[in-house]
Amino acid sequence: MAEATLASSSRRVVVGLSGGIAAYKTCSVISELAKAGLVVRPILTAQGQAFIPALTVATLARHTAYTDQTFWDPAYGRPLHIELGEWAELLVIAPLSANTLGKLAHGLADNLLTNTVLASTCPVLLAPAMNTDMWQQRAVQRNWQMVLQDPRFHSVGPGSGVLACDRVGTGRMAEPDDILPYIYSLLHTGGQRDLAGRHVLISTGSTREYLDPVRFIGNPASGKMGVALAQAALHRGAKVTLVHGPMEPALQARLGDMQAIPVTTAAEMHRAMITHLPQADWVIMAAAVADVRPTQPSPTKLAKAELPQALPLEPVPDIVADLAQRRQPDQTLIGFAAQTGDILPPALEKLHRKGLDAIVANPVDVEGSGFGADTNQAILLHRDGQKVLIPPCSKLDMAHRIFDSLHSALTNAKM
Ligand code: C5P
Repeated sequence: MAEATLASSSRRVVVGLSGGIAAYKTCSVISELAKAGLVVRPILTAQGQAFIPALTVATLARHTAYTDQTFWDPAYGRPLHIELGEWAELLVIAPLSANTLGKLAHGLADNLLTNTVLASTCPVLLAPAMNTDMWQQRAVQRNWQMVLQDPRFHSVGPGSGVLACDRVGTGRMAEPDDILPYIYSLLHTGGQRDLAGRHVLISTGSTREYLDPVRFIGNPASGKMGVALAQAALHRGAKVTLVHGPMEPALQARLGDMQAIPVTTAAEMHRAMITHLPQADWVIMAAAVADVRPTQPSPTKLAKAELPQALPLEPVPDIVADLAQRRQPDQTLIGFAAQTGDILPPALEKLHRKGLDAIVANPVDVEGSGFGADTNQAILLHRDGQKVLIPPCSKLDMAHRIFDSLHSALTNAKM
């Protein structure tokens, strides 16, 4: 007899905690998933339990935390590793210890967590955490490479920094802010790496056009949409280059493994995009480029009395229109149109005038959408006239819907 919630709920994630102090960070991953309405079933190894009591994990998950004492739960009437293995849409192991990694690499199963891995076929997200010397052992690295050869396994981290053993080096478990988007991506894609072999070049954020060293023309674009596009592309197997304007440090910290190129002005963004264009298969201009710049910027701060009554301005280069001139026929170019009012007519006009393959028209005068928000909504317009409505959703979700649509447009074009 299956438990009612197993059948009825939305997304189903098993979170396994093996031994490591980073297990404290997994508590916030579990908490966030449960708060977002996902159904979480936690499993603790014996070493995991040494770091975090099952009661803490169970309370955050709103469900029993399974341990090696519970290979059988009367609620299911079947061995628990089989039940959980079949039930899970995604397995997350965070922290992944050297010991559990070794078992995964060799197909060993001597506890509930490793048995559940073998009794399941869903994607598995691994977040290793250990001391630097442990991580760098040849045996551990061999095991890691073996595991990564299996397309079932996806990895996040480890990062480097100060470890709990007071060493500074590689071995820090990825942060919840990196693990959570990866979880959502894998639930969206089912673990497919449909962008493997592709290089995606993305611009994001605002540009600043300085009048003097302390004053500039800019806009409130945060860069969140482009970072979400970059994460989604990475999680789908692409190589990513992100050219970004100034960003909040918390967002900057999310750039992890991708090639990130910080720029400030439209001229710098233009140069960076031209430099990286030849390697790109897809180019997405999500940046909100300041359209104008002061014609005569001052190298030193202007005194208040020196500020002009009217500011002479000149246009900055239209970067995406220039990329459209320079691109090869097999390169795909996508723009964004941040609009107020009726978003469709101006977006359509930009799609054709700038020579794009598609444009994402998104309202910036609607609450929970546009600049700085964590959510967004849009209409994706393809050059062939196809329109895809993207209702309000997280920026990561929107990024995936954009890639879904581009991927199927390209696949159809090749057929
Ligand atoms: O600002 P506008 O609405 O014209 O932006 C539409 C698209 O053009 C966006 O993808 C934006 O990144 C791009 N753009 C650009 N260079 C500019 C202005 C906009 O590449 N100078």
